[in-house]
Amino acid sequence: MTIHFIGAGPGAPDLLTLRGRDLIAASPVCLYAGSLVPEGVLAHCPLGVRIVNTAPLSLEQIVQEMRQAHARGQDVARLHSGDLSVWSALGEQMRALREAGIPYTVTPGVPSFAAAAATLGAELTLPGMSQSVVLTRTSGRASPMPEGEALANFARTGATLAIHLSIHVLPRVVKDLLPHYGADCPVAVVWRASWPDERVVRASLAMIEAAIAPEIDRTALILVGRNLGAVDFGHSRLYAADYDRRYRPLGPVPRFPEEGE
Ligand SMILES: C[S@@+](CC[C@H](N)C(=O)[O-])C[C@H]1O[C@@H](n2cnc3c(N)ncnc32)[C@H](O)[C@@H]1O
Repeated sequence: MTIHFIGAGPGAPDLLTLRGRDLIAASPVCLYAGSLVPEGVLAHCPLGVRIVNTAPLSLEQIVQEMRQAHARGQDVARLHSGDLSVWSALGEQMRALREAGIPYTVTPGVPSFAAAAATLGAELTLPGMSQSVVLTRTSGRASPMPEGEALANFARTGATLAIHLSIHVLPRVVKDLLPHYGADCPVAVVWRASWPDERVVRASLAMIEAAIAPEIDRTALILVGRNLGAVDFGHSRLYAADYDRRYRPLGPVPRFPEEGE
């Protein structure tokens, strides 16, 4: 038997990979992080499955559920919101399973920053504006930020920021970013991206606090950057008619100056 860690996506049940769906459908036990994974995703579970919301459990209790399933010879679908590579407590669960000698697999999911960008119809990297996206957060009770990762340090780069787990400290976020991005920098807050009641609030950095209604809490992403809503940006050279590339060589002796694009 195997524990299958599965990225359950940002909320919409159909924003789940086919592999994730099939593993859920084939596993007689489903453990899900109920604080963020929507119940609609559980519709893929088979009949008679043991379904456990792990939101009120400790790590030890969660691992105990996995041990018990292992002893019964049952596979487990372990669901976390978005993708597992960020803020999913995957690392500590995998470590516990390695120590217990229990095998596991990892299936990626659609991260919330990608779902929010899709909602906005935004490309987060635009030629000549920003070519980096920083996935970050502010300090929380469960996880303080390492010293070098203060918001202001990332802000100095001018990269597009996708700030998670921080809507409750929006005034502090604004204060830290204003000196670097300027009062007129566009901000978008996407609440419950891809959920039926999804909401978007767009404003300048100076005005975003005033624009946010109190019910916009917890499951919200703050996106900051000149890219958002920009229309005056350059073209990538990739599709320029005179750009010599591997898949569209200009002469009889192709040069391949840039691999991987
Ligand atoms: C514990 S983290 C989980 C992140 C997740 N692993 C991911 O890939 O996006 C929870 C935070 O992610 C963001 N988030 C998760 N789902 C979201 C959604 N559907 N819409 C907006 N933000 C979301 C919020 O900032 C929330 O506070």
